[in-house]
Amino acid sequence: MNSIQRLNAASLDIARRPRRNRKADWSRRLVRENTLSVDDLIWPIFITGGKKTRTPIGSMPGVFRLSIDLAVEEAKNAAELGIPAIALFPYTPPALRDEHGSEALNAQNLVCSACRAIKHAVPEIGLITDVALDPYTSHGHDGLLRGGEILNDETIAILCQQAVTQAAAGADIIAPSDMMDGRVGAIRAALDIAGFQKVQILAYSAKYASAFYGPFREAVGANKTLGSNTAAAGDKKTYQMDPANGAEALMEAELDIAEGADMIMVKPGMPYLDILYRLKTSFGLPTYAYQVSGEYAMIMAAAENGWIDGEKAMLESLIAFKRAGADGILTYFAPVVAKLLKKS
Ligand code: PBG
Repeated sequence: MNSIQRLNAASLDIARRPRRNRKADWSRRLVRENTLSVDDLIWPIFITGGKKTRTPIGSMPGVFRLSIDLAVEEAKNAAELGIPAIALFPYTPPALRDEHGSEALNAQNLVCSACRAIKHAVPEIGLITDVALDPYTSHGHDGLLRGGEILNDETIAILCQQAVTQAAAGADIIAPSDMMDGRVGAIRAALDIAGFQKVQILAYSAKYASAFYGPFREAVGANKTLGSNTAAAGDKKTYQMDPANGAEALMEAELDIAEGADMIMVKPGMPYLDILYRLKTSFGLPTYAYQVSGEYAMIMAAAENGWIDGEKAMLESLIAFKRAGADGILTYFAPVVAKLLKKS
């Protein structure tokens, strides 16, 4: 050591060295604060008509619209992997979409038929269904549209029937994603009156008007319907939240909880980790993050271009949700992650 080195070593005198705990894999595992388990995963699946049909979704590499028979197979695989629950979304044939979203109330629609088939074949997996009208309306909005306005209370009346129809088909968890005011309380009452006291409600409490839903809208065919109408400018800003707002999410969650939500959700996921953290610490309820289609697409696209390591980015994105307080994550990566976790 020369004199300068001696001087540095002496004057540094570092007592706390956080790097010590990072020195080896065993030590890093020992001090790890959060873990990702298969129990954290909810897998969203797209349902289409026909048989043995598996239609790729261009903007979501590795994700398909599945006919019901194939969805049953995938539900079996998911259950075998230990995934606790799946969430179903329909690609409604365009001819069945109308102004009122009537197909949403058809007990034989894709989602309800899929619920019955999956419940019968794979009773051990949890079934989550989305309550909103966008896959069923000719204008692509989540609610009824009149004179350029999305009607709140009139929409709720339909959503209540939609929820009861889904529960009757075997849905275990009803997830209202429509963002109408007062819908959780109304749906709770409707479910209870119909005898579905045990059906849970997972409220999309903080759902933002987000550009990250783009690929999903392709998957359910709402990109065309939503794009084709000029009313409300084809966007959802009069009911979904403004990305600039945080405190408002606390109010939304508070209302949903008071109205009877069993679980709450933040959506999209990664751009809203602060919201996730605030909701979990404020209310302590089971709180979920939806890693939405655009988040999935971004990771996949960058990975396919060789710009990032897709597997590492996927795992990093998911552990970030856990760190921020999520009790679980809705993610299109679910089966891939579940397989990885099984191996390790
Ligand atoms: C429908 C609904 C949407 C998503 C889930 N439910 C789209 C939207 O509100 O436009 C988005 C999911 C995703 O992007 O992965 N109300």
